[in-house]
Amino acid sequence: MERTLSIIKPDGVARNLVGEIIKRFEEAGIGIVAMKMVHLSREECRAFYHVHRNRPFFDSLTEYMSSGPIVAMVLDGEDVIRRNRELMGATNPKDAAPGTIRHAFGSDVEKNVVHGSDSAENAAVEIAFFFNALEICG
Ligand code: RTP
Ligand code: MG
Repeated sequence: MERTLSIIKPDGVARNLVGEIIKRFEEAGIGIVAMKMVHLSREECRAFYHVHRNRPFFDSLTEYMSSGPIVAMVLDGEDVIRRNRELMGATNPKDAAPGTIRHAFGSDVEKNVVHGSDSAENAAVEIAFFFNALEICG
């Protein structure tokens, strides 16, 4: 079994897509073992996206991610890091396969509705950013 961090980004929450996205995880048989809604500050977003600090989109990304509440979740299941990214689709909704979350709901390469950890190492760091051990069930 494996765990990954999923985030419904501010555009997803603002557009009332929380239920729709959670439904996709549930229908795929992916377990949710932790969940919270938070509104991150700009500084907290800069810390979360530290790996992207030298990218040209860093300022815009951290402004967007701090613009409203997000829903953070720990997903649990076999091969769940890869499976979640498959459900999400490509970063740019224009390139995302039909049937994926970003294809269905993404607005552009930045406002793409969801985040998912991209490796086991990053999943562990990202889960610990949002949740302590007591907040994760099972
Ligand atoms: P995420 O980390 O959110 O799951 O997305 P990802 O792996 O598919 O994409 P990544 O390369 O890690 O980029 C993180 C987020 O930054 C925004 N972005 N903007 N303007 C741009 O060219 C650009 N590229 C990326 C997106 O919100 C992306 O999800
Ligand atoms: Mg990423």
